[in-house]
Amino acid sequence: MRVAVFGAGYVGLVTGACLADLGHDVVVRDILEERIDALRRGEVPIHEQGLAELLERNRERLRFTTDVGEAIDGAEVVFVAVGTPPTASGDADLTAVWTVVDELPKVEHRVVVAMKSTVPVGTGDAVRHRLDERGLENVGYVSNPEFTAEGTAVHDFQHPDRIVVGAFDPADAEVIERLHAGIEAPVITCDVNSAEMIKLAANAFLVTRISFINEIANVCEATGADVVKVAEGIGLDHRLGPHFLRAGIGYGGSCFPKDSLALKQLAANSGYSFQLLNAVIEVNELQKRRVVGKLERHLGSIRGKKIALLGLAFKPGTDDMREAPSLVLAARLQAEGAEISAWDPIANGRAHLDGVAIAGSALEALEGADGAVIVTEWPELGEVDWAEAGSRMRQRVLVDGRNMLDPEELRAHGFEYEGIGRAAE
Ligand code: UDX
Repeated sequence: MRVAVFGAGYVGLVTGACLADLGHDVVVRDILEERIDALRRGEVPIHEQGLAELLERNRERLRFTTDVGEAIDGAEVVFVAVGTPPTASGDADLTAVWTVVDELPKVEHRVVVAMKSTVPVGTGDAVRHRLDERGLENVGYVSNPEFTAEGTAVHDFQHPDRIVVGAFDPADAEVIERLHAGIEAPVITCDVNSAEMIKLAANAFLVTRISFINEIANVCEATGADVVKVAEGIGLDHRLGPHFLRAGIGYGGSCFPKDSLALKQLAANSGYSFQLLNAVIEVNELQKRRVVGKLERHLGSIRGKKIALLGLAFKPGTDDMREAPSLVLAARLQAEGAEISAWDPIANGRAHLDGVAIAGSALEALEGADGAVIVTEWPELGEVDWAEAGSRMRQRVLVDGRNMLDPEELRAHGFEYEGIGRAAE
């Protein structure tokens, strides 16, 4: 099939590359000329495992353009994969979505617009109305949310747990099903509002699990239990399952913070206070800040102390620092008067952090530090020679914000080690 993808970000590029790999003929359109030029030269503007290979392998079936006409020409499906960042009020900003909708030209044959961007419930209705107003009855609309996680997006797209298609017209849903032929997964077809809600509710549930285990971790600290064991014990219950029960210093990224806020706001705008979700968001904010207290417990005041932040990306396997806990942590520590060094294998700390010394290796960041925080569980940190690291530090204080290291081993190297929700020494 001929497919157009609007938006060459994480979601758009992965969607385009994976559909081309299924044999479809794909044109990816973005407004950023530099980005399109780079893609045409064969450069990949983002770090996403397997994406570069996929783009390369399907070069013949992939084109990149800034031109709407070129993208739409002959297309049977038009994916919308543009950003929907939060506005000042926490609602999703749909400006980029509306721009795409308003740019769609009149077409002779049936074209199905498939919404991949995460949008509030009711957006599909509003888009349908706008298309009808413009006399674009030939343009169908479906909600086809994505559930891909960064770092594993290509794999997640190719091996999804389910494909959700919310449609006004069953024939449009069938087009999307056909487009995914070759991918083994149950297909959930439903109305557009429900498809939009499935995406928001899935993310809300996942963040609820994270904040839940983080609160359990905090109570473990107060009572002397170990959350790693507790999570294992909970997760083996088949009704609960093991996923998203890793306690840490909070969730970040391009989706969870934005989408949970958007659902909270959507509920509030509809006259309902989503109390559970409000608490989940609040717990996450507090969780990032608790690290400061942990450092202070070992160092006293952190004014003038040097703190090393190990890992800056919101999770390993990505260079993405959107809403990363590292940003809040760095700002809080700076406000308390600490001097900060930081290391990340791929995220560009310089672009996001002012007044932070960016080091070329974890050991370099630890040089002369009074304390260190593992912010992102990069596998590289498991390879660090902690005896050597300790000898370079001024004080051997380590807060393991992701519970990735063995407390006993670190203590054997003379560290004052603190994890999240693990009994203190
Ligand atoms: C997420 C969803 O997984 C995906 O389905 C959705 O489409 C977009 O949002 P992503 O943001 O890429 O994907 O990352 P994910 O791996 O889900 O992690 C998000 C954040 O939660 C990270 O900051 C991670 O560190 C944190 N997290 C995750 C925890 O703190 N504990 C966990 O148990 C799991």
